[in-house]
Amino acid sequence: MTTPSDRGIHLSTIGAQWDSLRVPAAGVHLDSAAAGRSSRAVIDTITEHLHAEAAHGGYVAAAARADDLAATHAAVATLIGHDHGDVALVGSAQAAIRELLRHWRRPLSIWVCPTEYGPNVADFAHHGHTVTTLPVADEFGHVDVAATEAMLLKRPPDVLHICHIGSRTGIVQPAAELVALARAAGVVTVVDAAQALVQIDSRTGADIVYGTSRKWAAGPRGVGFLSVRRSPAAPPLVADLPAPAELESAEAAVAARLGFGVALRQILDLGPVSVHAGLSAIGGHLRTQVSAVDGWTVVEPSDEPSATTTLRPATDADIDVWHVRAHLLRNGFVTTCAESWRSPLQPAETVLRISPHLDVTVGDLDAFVDALQRAHPANAAPA
Ligand SMILES: Cc1ncc(COP(=O)(O)O)c(C=O)c1O
Repeated sequence: MTTPSDRGIHLSTIGAQWDSLRVPAAGVHLDSAAAGRSSRAVIDTITEHLHAEAAHGGYVAAAARADDLAATHAAVATLIGHDHGDVALVGSAQAAIRELLRHWRRPLSIWVCPTEYGPNVADFAHHGHTVTTLPVADEFGHVDVAATEAMLLKRPPDVLHICHIGSRTGIVQPAAELVALARAAGVVTVVDAAQALVQIDSRTGADIVYGTSRKWAAGPRGVGFLSVRRSPAAPPLVADLPAPAELESAEAAVAARLGFGVALRQILDLGPVSVHAGLSAIGGHLRTQVSAVDGWTVVEPSDEPSATTTLRPATDADIDVWHVRAHLLRNGFVTTCAESWRSPLQPAETVLRISPHLDVTVGDLDAFVDALQRAHPANAAPA
């Protein structure tokens, strides 16, 4: 139980530091899975570079920051366990997967997790690839690793595409284990790290990793990355891909790329292990708090190692998630109403997605629980 003196307390040792790097939020931001809150240094880097472009010319200004742009590539590489020369910066995670698929011209068999991101499934189908959903081990949608191993021995696919954390819930797939098995079977591995980068350890050993700046890294919008590791024995699907410089768009928001680099530098300075532990602790605390709220059930196991927490309305609760999301927003709490299109391979449902970052306090989450309780139809004020 929390006491008044606990309320301003952060849930991790680095929470206060993360908070001090940012401007105050207008309300309580519980929506990092949509877009995180950039730090002052990220915002300053972007604005200073825009000024430099106007003062010196865009190309001269970019050339002057060549080392810092290289540092952005290097920081991405460190967080995903690739080499800095593997990384291409693109416009978004979706731009990354589309760039990849553009180069894979023959129809492929692709295995995916049940929590796969909907637009990825649509893109695979659009390119004529055959998608197979891996079997689940439990009611949460975690992939059954042993069953996948048996399938790999029987008839391996061309590609294993792992959405490490999906867009609808905070369920974490066992990506490193799956990658190891697929690699042993000679299967190309791709990880969608859009929700995983910074939220959890994204060094899975995959051949190809892509993601975005704006979510858990709290970098600016409009930047993503596609990284291809060409080990000496890479299969043709990997080895034949263009070099990173050709995967990147020559025209880009250079200021945003620099801002992404600063956001990642701050995470590396705080220590990725501490960041992951802090976010996981926040997820555990939040799930315990919200499990007491009438009318909802928590989708994730309480010890799932992620911060993203989702709530499913009880079947008899008469709760409209869009209305609840709007009620919360009016009261200063930013969340997402996450619909089925985000995870179309799972049973259809709409959930409330809550995704706090390290700056959240015990008091913020207590206040959120109160607001959620008040949003229940049974507690609504009479009109
Ligand atoms: C799991 C996952 N993959 C891919 C994407 C696409 O990212 P972007 O909007 O940067 O294209 C998202 C966006 O929410 C996502 O959650």
